[in-house]
Amino acid sequence: MSTSGSSGPAHTASPNAGATRGGFSSGLGVLAATLGSAVGLGNIWKFPTLTGANGGAGFLLVYLLSTLLIGLPLMVAEIAIGRQARANPISALRQLRPHGAPWWLIGMAGMAAAFLILSFYSEVVAWVFAYVAKALTGGLLSSDPAQTQASFDALVTDPVQSLVWQWVVLAFIGGILLLGVTRGIEAATKKLMPLLFLLLLLLCGYSLTLPGRAQALAFLFAPEWHKITPAVVLTAMGLAFFKLSIGMGTMMTYGSYFTASQNIPATATRVMLADLSVSLLAGMAIFPAVFSFGFTPSAGPALVFITIPAVFAQIPGGQVLLAVFFILTAIAATGAMLSLMEVPVVILHERWGLTRPRATLLTLLVLVLLGAGCALSQSTLAQFRPGGRTLFDWADHLSSNLLLPAGGIAIALFVGWAWGERAFAAQLSNHGELGNRALARLLCLLLRWVTPALILLVMLAGLGVFSGA
Ligand code: PFF
Repeated sequence: MSTSGSSGPAHTASPNAGATRGGFSSGLGVLAATLGSAVGLGNIWKFPTLTGANGGAGFLLVYLLSTLLIGLPLMVAEIAIGRQARANPISALRQLRPHGAPWWLIGMAGMAAAFLILSFYSEVVAWVFAYVAKALTGGLLSSDPAQTQASFDALVTDPVQSLVWQWVVLAFIGGILLLGVTRGIEAATKKLMPLLFLLLLLLCGYSLTLPGRAQALAFLFAPEWHKITPAVVLTAMGLAFFKLSIGMGTMMTYGSYFTASQNIPATATRVMLADLSVSLLAGMAIFPAVFSFGFTPSAGPALVFITIPAVFAQIPGGQVLLAVFFILTAIAATGAMLSLMEVPVVILHERWGLTRPRATLLTLLVLVLLGAGCALSQSTLAQFRPGGRTLFDWADHLSSNLLLPAGGIAIALFVGWAWGERAFAAQLSNHGELGNRALARLLCLLLRWVTPALILLVMLAGLGVFSGA
């Protein structure tokens, strides 16, 4: 991919080149990198897990609404802020609004969110890596639910495997960043993502011939309204934030590398639609298998890891395809992890004066420590459940349901009230070139009133404030 910015090698070529900040050099590069951040385990692991655990269609509907009404406007807002300031989130907010409220705190909260997400995300990528190894050695295929569940349990309840695979993942990501081969990885991602899409399409086509098809389609597309509780709505909204990588400065950071001529609303809309299609395909590949093979939709984080091997067990050549599937998933997750790492690394580099390699090493060190809590949460630390949640669940809950939505409120208020419509509209229209004034006005109105109020309401209801829980 033709980027020389974000996670691109421009930094490693000249790690201290604060003055010559890199940037994506082409429109396609912008689209691919932004999509690379959005598409990841969120589509293949989190979306099916949460849809299964929260009742199916009703959850999906709220997720779609959150994506359109809250996610898309915020994604546009973040990219616009980033491109205007051309700096890391903390410096960007300070620069656009030097006086008054401490908006830059959004950047600090974003850094905390990045660490929290990476600490459990790296563990799920660890399971994916372990599954690649197991698939290659032939130990996974079975359409017997008891057996696929047992394989997964054996992995996650083993503290040594859980930790070591996580270190392998962190070393892999660290290696990519330190060796400056992100451009190679991103080029590979761009070429291989269509392959993941095709494989999902194939799986989906196959799954839809299974006897559980009708039940799966009803589960995914016929809402049972009573299942939409405030907690379900909060989870769906949290997923929309997580999916689009918003609320924590990631899109702001990527926006800071956007080309001046890039059409921000069009790019954000394309990323959102492509991301949504991958999630829906994953859902339609997985749920028919769930109902056909006697799995339960609410099997939790294990869902993908137990159903996908069962589907491949039925397909000729399934052994190889299973390995390919997890390799492609690992690659998709790598793009998302690189964008997550970029937030702390660029802040440590640009604001605290560390070289990029040092900033990367420090970030990795923190993640080895924080990540261990998540890695061991189903083995050594399984009984350690403050407030009824494991450390893994806390990291997930605090980031998606608290930090990202709170960041979203702050970003919406920043654009709507502090930065202002005129500057926002100038960014959206590339200084008058695109003629999308009405769209900017509409988005600004949404960001000023609707988005923050809606997020706040959903957060308070979901956290049980109104029910006194
Ligand atoms: N959007 C990524 C996924 O769905 O896998 C996860 C993610 C990446 C969340 C970057 C947040 C972020 F800043």
